[in-house]
Amino acid sequence: MKEKLNILLLGSGGRESAIAYKLLQSPRTARLWVAPGNASPAFESVDLPLSDFEAIAKFVADNEIDLIFVGPEQPLVDGIADFFADSKVKVIGPVAEAARLEGSKEFAKEFMFRHAIPTARFMTVTADTLQEGEFFLESLQPPYVLKADGLAAGKGVLIIPDLEEAKAKLHEMLEGMFGKASHTVVIEQFLDGIECSVFVATDGEDYRVLPVAKDYKRIGEGDTGPNTGGMGAVSPVPFADEAFMEKVRSRIIEPTIRGLREEGIDYRGFIFLGLINVGGDPMVIEYNVRLGDPETEVVMPRLKSDLVDLVEGIADRTMALKHVEEDPRAAATVMLVSDGYPGTYRKGMAMEGAESNPEGCILFHAGTRRNAEGRPETAGGRVLAVTAFGPDIHQAAATALKGAESVKFEGKRNRTDIGADL
Ligand code: AMP
Ligand code: GLY
Repeated sequence: MKEKLNILLLGSGGRESAIAYKLLQSPRTARLWVAPGNASPAFESVDLPLSDFEAIAKFVADNEIDLIFVGPEQPLVDGIADFFADSKVKVIGPVAEAARLEGSKEFAKEFMFRHAIPTARFMTVTADTLQEGEFFLESLQPPYVLKADGLAAGKGVLIIPDLEEAKAKLHEMLEGMFGKASHTVVIEQFLDGIECSVFVATDGEDYRVLPVAKDYKRIGEGDTGPNTGGMGAVSPVPFADEAFMEKVRSRIIEPTIRGLREEGIDYRGFIFLGLINVGGDPMVIEYNVRLGDPETEVVMPRLKSDLVDLVEGIADRTMALKHVEEDPRAAATVMLVSDGYPGTYRKGMAMEGAESNPEGCILFHAGTRRNAEGRPETAGGRVLAVTAFGPDIHQAAATALKGAESVKFEGKRNRTDIGADL
């Protein structure tokens, strides 16, 4: 690959802001565009719709882009890597066939079953097999886990304490509670433990593991209330020690990469393992085919080695030559969200303090845009992420929380207990 690259990063969230931050630190980045991006003053946003591959191709040609870094899953599931397979530009992210690891929970579960990768017991149900589904529910202990097979914007998982209610919800899901995504439902055994997120960069053969993170999904303090896209994250994760990570590598990462290869699936990109620690043993909750948000807002700052160099390993199948160096400091991020999120919320609130980094912190824009006068305003549920370093995750979280106070917009909400459970 060339020494200096023009890079197009697809996406618009805090994750993409954190990837951009890291790409811009690299001496190998010639120029970076983020599409559609957000109001961040830290990089150049360009208004391109992610579903329009022809428009992206034109931008790539016009601007001599060498590398497309795909942030979110949807373009991958839609086949953006396949679309550009014969073109000069390299895409960081797997082809559609491989993206099924995230795009179909049924595919992911059956893949894990075929390759003996530790995960919850499960059964796949459609309208035709509803009764078997009910019998399977009866065979499980509460609570009951129901998952829409397809992509449902992170909302397609229900955890239900009561058997009768679980059966009722199973009916509703199959009847289209999450549209087509829940015409097939995966019923799972509930696993009890603490979760963590492990990101793996692979060229289909060799791999490198990024710093481990944990995200906080519920809206409320003490992990209460509805699930969100993520309210904060920390890295490292104290229980993910060397012994635990050795199990992750030998029982999960290596069988996953080997399994993909054996099935003739060319996986080049990041694999996100959503893991749960069940009595010291890692089990897979889910696969994603991209980096996580808001974990990336702590993982990128803790990545000391060069990100362009790492993703070159993915694109050129030279991962064996790459290395990942971690910053020994801990990092924490606190997400600032709009009042009402994850339900309905208002947009277009003026923001104060969003044009520069709060003291000792890094500010990552997420749901933000510029108004007609060019001033930043809110444009989403998750608005900004404030990341800080510290000697441990608790001190990092305290600094991030303090930084979060210096950013203001009407209806601003955030959790104050990020990392407190660890
Ligand atoms: P997913 O979209 O598959 O990551 O599920 C969303 C969240 O539901 C996960 O982050 C877990 O907190 C929870 N979850 C999913 N599957 C299970 C399971 N089998 N046991 C316990 N919790 C689960
Ligand atoms: N933080 C979880 C996700 O990105 O799916």
